[in-house]
Amino acid sequence: MIRKICCIGAGYVGGPTMIVIAENCPDVIINVVDTNPEKIEAWNNKDLSKLPVFEPGLVKLIKRVRNKNLFFTTEIDTSIKNADAIFISVNTPIKSSGVGAGQASDLKWVEASARRIAESATGHTIVIEKSTLPVRTAKVIKEILETKQSFEKSDSKFKTFSVLSNPEFLAEGTAINNLQKPDRVLIGGDNFDSINELKSLYLNWVEEEKIICSNLWSSELTKLTANAFLAQRISSINSISAICEVTGADIKEVAKATGLDSRIGEKFLNAGPGFGGSCFKKDILNLIYLSNYFNLKEVGDYWEQIIKINDWQKKRIYEVIVEKLFGNIADKKILILGFSFKANTNDTRESPSIGISIDLLKENSKLVFHDPKVSPTQIINVLKNEIDSNQFSKNISFSDDIYSASHDADAIIILTEWEEYKMIDWKKISNIMRKPSWVFDTRGIVNVESVRSEKINIWQVGNGFLRN
Ligand code: NAD
Ligand code: UDX
Repeated sequence: MIRKICCIGAGYVGGPTMIVIAENCPDVIINVVDTNPEKIEAWNNKDLSKLPVFEPGLVKLIKRVRNKNLFFTTEIDTSIKNADAIFISVNTPIKSSGVGAGQASDLKWVEASARRIAESATGHTIVIEKSTLPVRTAKVIKEILETKQSFEKSDSKFKTFSVLSNPEFLAEGTAINNLQKPDRVLIGGDNFDSINELKSLYLNWVEEEKIICSNLWSSELTKLTANAFLAQRISSINSISAICEVTGADIKEVAKATGLDSRIGEKFLNAGPGFGGSCFKKDILNLIYLSNYFNLKEVGDYWEQIIKINDWQKKRIYEVIVEKLFGNIADKKILILGFSFKANTNDTRESPSIGISIDLLKENSKLVFHDPKVSPTQIINVLKNEIDSNQFSKNISFSDDIYSASHDADAIIILTEWEEYKMIDWKKISNIMRKPSWVFDTRGIVNVESVRSEKINIWQVGNGFLRN
């Protein structure tokens, strides 16, 4: 029976996942460890507004479990030593250099975790891949662990391992709900007893029918497939949004009527500025790398198109903005509403706001940023790597008040679908923007008539009614 858990990696997955396990399994002791002491300190902060991850519902749960059966600590080796089960939840970004650069996953953090487990674990330990990994990574982890296995039970050095794949399907912004009521829990492995132990843990709050078991490689591949299919829907609807804009069709009407076909379904058909987040692009690149590695070039080319459309959607939105502002945005004040990659998260990884802002800054526009959960420091850190620092510092500013920030602005660009952007008082805005004023609604969340009636021009993604 799993009594003590160690989770390696206290990020967007490790933190919320362990909080939910702790809530549902009060008899299990969980240590979440990380090599980044600042992150651990932030998870331990008494001021709950300073937790490193913002997720609706997270604060309520952490209050109930932190320092009761859930601990955030930098004591990595002791936590590994004491654990019956270890979740590896470390980051797996795309390699930036060397073989496979730009496509293959960088497994250095996974490998480091496996080596540390091999060194410090005692007794029998179930090692669970929670990170999203290329197919057959479990083999790498097994090989590393096997170098330190010792089977003699009477020996104090006794240590054995079994490796399971248990990919995480949570989406940021709804993570707590996804973890509490998952569509499914997938466990891949070849050791029957270990699979059952992990299954028993989940049975504390997940219905048995929702827990499915498979072999290791199916489990690893399912995670990449699920993300690729979701991203594919977004690129599909975004490609149709461009057709709507030139033909006079409306993407919301098309999406609704298309999604009502029960074989297609209504979810994930919102056109927007392209998908962001740390997962979709990385996981598709991974699939492309895998396809090419196994000489399945056509398969790789097929999935590559999803990313191409995603990049194109961002570029074309930027070009629309420049064109509507008379082809010249130098020195024009533009208010950027939203920097996180979606609403209800403070995560900015691969956010469409990044690329679009950089393109605008390269044309010397003056950007004012507003985001309810992303701090100016976070925005500066993201942008400073991409833009010449002189140009960058003089042309960007921040505001936490949409109305004062709109003063003399030529354009407002809505890039994240935060609730408060749906309730903007356009009458108030109209009086303070410079004329002619523009609103670019890349998320399709604004009531077009309420903007137009205030004599503000509007462009909305996929809205062909605005064609003329
Ligand atoms: P993250 O960057 O937020 O967190 C990873 C953490 O691991 C970091 O805090 C890092 O310091 C820590 N770490 C790295 N190496 C370590 C080591 N050797 N020892 C201890 N700590 C170490 O990443 P994330 O968003 O939580 O993603 C983690 C994994 O889960 C990735 O593989 C990702 O693809 C997958 N995933 C992410 C999401 C999501 O929505 N973010 C959803 C499903 C799956
Ligand atoms: C995704 C998967 O949904 C989740 O199952 C997996 O575990 C991790 O990757 P996440 O990236 O956190 O989750 O958020 P998601 O809701 O999938 O949104 C990803 C991006 O797609 C966001 O930029 C979002 O704005 C965009 N999106 C989503 C759309 O543009 N339209 C939609 O209809 C849905």
